[in-house]
Amino acid sequence: MRTKLTEMLGIEHPVMLAGMGGVSYAPLVATVSEAGGFGCLGASTMTPPQMVEEIREVRRLTDKPFGVDLLTAMPGGIEDQVRMLIEEGASVFVAGLGVPSQVVTMCHDANVIVINMCGKVEHARRAVAAGCDLVVAQGTEAGGHTGTVATMPLVPQIVDAVGAEIPVVAAGGIFDGRGLAAALALGAVGVWVGTRFIATPEARAVPGYKERLIASREDGTVVSRAFSGKTMRVLRNDYTTYFEQNPAELQPFPAQLGRSMGDNAWHLGGGPETEGVDLDKEGLPAGQGTGAIDELIPAAELVRRIVAEAEEAIGRMTATLGAAVAGGASDGGAG
Ligand SMILES: Cc1cc2nc3c(=O)[nH]c(=O)nc-3n(C[C@H](O)[C@H](O)[C@H](O)COP(=O)(O)O)c2cc1C
Repeated sequence: MRTKLTEMLGIEHPVMLAGMGGVSYAPLVATVSEAGGFGCLGASTMTPPQMVEEIREVRRLTDKPFGVDLLTAMPGGIEDQVRMLIEEGASVFVAGLGVPSQVVTMCHDANVIVINMCGKVEHARRAVAAGCDLVVAQGTEAGGHTGTVATMPLVPQIVDAVGAEIPVVAAGGIFDGRGLAAALALGAVGVWVGTRFIATPEARAVPGYKERLIASREDGTVVSRAFSGKTMRVLRNDYTTYFEQNPAELQPFPAQLGRSMGDNAWHLGGGPETEGVDLDKEGLPAGQGTGAIDELIPAAELVRRIVAEAEEAIGRMTATLGAAVAGGASDGGAG
């Protein structure tokens, strides 16, 4: 399945692993890239030395292209880390939470593609003005930090606003090949998938996170400021309910991160050996696709399934339309 995305990134399939902080570490990233998709390290929860170590591990595991995601809004700035990811050989830099204007030239001078996560049309316009090469239109269904507009209306509106200038990738609530087919129909050139990839053996996760995802239904998530101070979609639990009932205690980003860590409710970045995780308190970012997840699937198999299902869905649509046209013709012919 070839699109502008596969051409631009030098990959086989228009399926990107979201750069999820705490989840998208080297084993998952390398597996997705090796399977022909695009793996992206979620470096927002890593220290700079950890990020460098993870990039080197990805490069040890695969020679395929991969990216690194950071949050523009993180205190202390992103310039040093972006310089490091360029030096270490990433081919793409993805910025969440803000337009990364300050590093676009640095990336382009090194032939590194700049991608910006967007939740509104205006964000996408600002990304284009700053010189970004591609935007991910992420709907509110998405796990992690998220806006208010849903994927179905957001993607075509961003495509209409900036699609003539740069390609648009769809994200938020996409968990299978039907989602990829729908994204292509909306004018996107591929998908950026988060939550579905958490339920893979290769994903990093604190103990019990993957099991909670499998157990959770489609209405089991909530958008909460409890963990970072910014709106984040997570699995609903006692901690999110507490802040729903006591909103006056919420602090702005990033101060609330200190509160949730102090309350022992935030271990994102921890692995299966992490101790002291109480799942009724813990911040477990997840999108509304969680209800569709009922087993762990190896990440490479997931990439293959998404592509095969999309081809099947497109074939099914074409057949349905063909039958309708044929039916219409014979109806017309009867007169
Ligand atoms: C556990 C988790 C952590 C995330 N961390 C980040 C992050 O650090 N940077 C970022 O740009 N997006 C982050 N996101 C959002 C994803 O990049 C992506 O847009 C989202 O997962 C897509 O929606 P989906 O989860 O419904 O597939 C995160 C999402 C999850 C579920």
